[in-house]
Amino acid sequence: MTMTYQYEQSKIKFEASRKYLAQGVASSLRAAMKPVPLFVESASGSRLRDVDGNEYIDYMLGYGPLILGHSHPALVESVHEAMLKGSTYGLQHDGEITLARRLTELLPCAESVALSGSGTEAVMLALRLARAYTAKRKIVRFHGHYHGWSDTIFTSFPSSDMKPSGAQGQAQAETRPLPGTGGQSEIALSEVILLPWNDPDLLERTLRAGKDEIAVVITEPVMCNSGCILPLPGYLERMRGLTKELGIVMVMDEVITGFRIGIGGAHGHFGLMPDLVTVGKALGGGVAVSAVAGKSEIMKLLDNGAVSHLGTLNGNCIATSAALATLDVLTANGGAVYGSMNRVAGRLVQGLRDAMAKQGKKGIVNQFGPVFHMMFTAEERVDNFASFNKRDAGAYGLFAERMLEEGVLLRPNGLWYVSVVHNDEDVRQTVAAAERAMARM
Ligand SMILES: Cc1ncc(COP(=O)(O)O)c(C=O)c1O
Repeated sequence: MTMTYQYEQSKIKFEASRKYLAQGVASSLRAAMKPVPLFVESASGSRLRDVDGNEYIDYMLGYGPLILGHSHPALVESVHEAMLKGSTYGLQHDGEITLARRLTELLPCAESVALSGSGTEAVMLALRLARAYTAKRKIVRFHGHYHGWSDTIFTSFPSSDMKPSGAQGQAQAETRPLPGTGGQSEIALSEVILLPWNDPDLLERTLRAGKDEIAVVITEPVMCNSGCILPLPGYLERMRGLTKELGIVMVMDEVITGFRIGIGGAHGHFGLMPDLVTVGKALGGGVAVSAVAGKSEIMKLLDNGAVSHLGTLNGNCIATSAALATLDVLTANGGAVYGSMNRVAGRLVQGLRDAMAKQGKKGIVNQFGPVFHMMFTAEERVDNFASFNKRDAGAYGLFAERMLEEGVLLRPNGLWYVSVVHNDEDVRQTVAAAERAMARM
């Protein structure tokens, strides 16, 4: 592979974009891409072509939704057919019933569901339901987890999400989150308790002490947003036991892991029953759709009007048909695609570890099925947020830039996604590219 990748057209378009589109990108994270936010010509399967004619094997996968790869024929056909019958009605249609029923069949904790458009909205609804159900206000969330960008829950992300400890000392600093952005209401965050994840004793102390005020604990099942860190054995089970005992709703945010880890999400994988789950990303295969699913006792607050859930495009025909087509592919032959996707991801992870060793780069790859986090670090293990924050983020950013020149598209933060269409040839080319990229760092 050559090292002559040029990004002239992307650079020109980015400058043009900045004139009319605030910040030049439609979602703030995308501005971080080096050497320039890429402009795409087309994409198909595991491959993506930019406007300069450069082709990439894509492991960014639209930040996660593209579990079927780009433009999967089943998805294209289904959305095309839906479009011919009208994209949205603001009225009810069979696609909603079929999708909602499907979700209750596939997600172990789902007795009933509500449909939204994005992960952020699904989380907002789950938190609202939890507060209404418990008649309490406070939210416990964890360092390094991400639950969307609403004022209710967004904290400085991904690293320094705590206020510097003041005269009150460390104990207070630990529980006072920093706003994630200018313009965010600090009052909203005053009801958020921010804890380190994977610390069961601190969790127990906090929940017992605050049980009369704490409505909800929200957690990613695996810390995919910061290092792809697995829960310690028994940690999520203890969280489940404590929340049940203390009358606190447990929300598992499966916006990344839902339908990616397996058809029953991470809670199916771990055999855990949270009260509510949020799913998004992979559910629509690249079309905007999300859902809250869980116990009917909580969900029925929507039925009796105690809780409002709104959205002009909720349950639209494009969203439901995309989700149903995606679920059809994922569930065919007993979910066989998960086996092959995990095998490809496993080979890729092994190849990357070998490449690091061969190039004398110290690093870690934390894997959870078809999602993994690669980082350069001197740590022996990255199993909590503190050790994650010791990684050399700059070196990884450089690696991602070099990989681009080798024809591999990565998120600059280290999180990789594999789709059902990535294959062994993609892996072979990617590992060879990684070796060359590291040699040039
Ligand atoms: C765990 C988790 N929850 C919620 C969200 C927010 O989803 P969206 O970007 O669709 O609003 C994300 C997005 O990355 C996520 O990773």
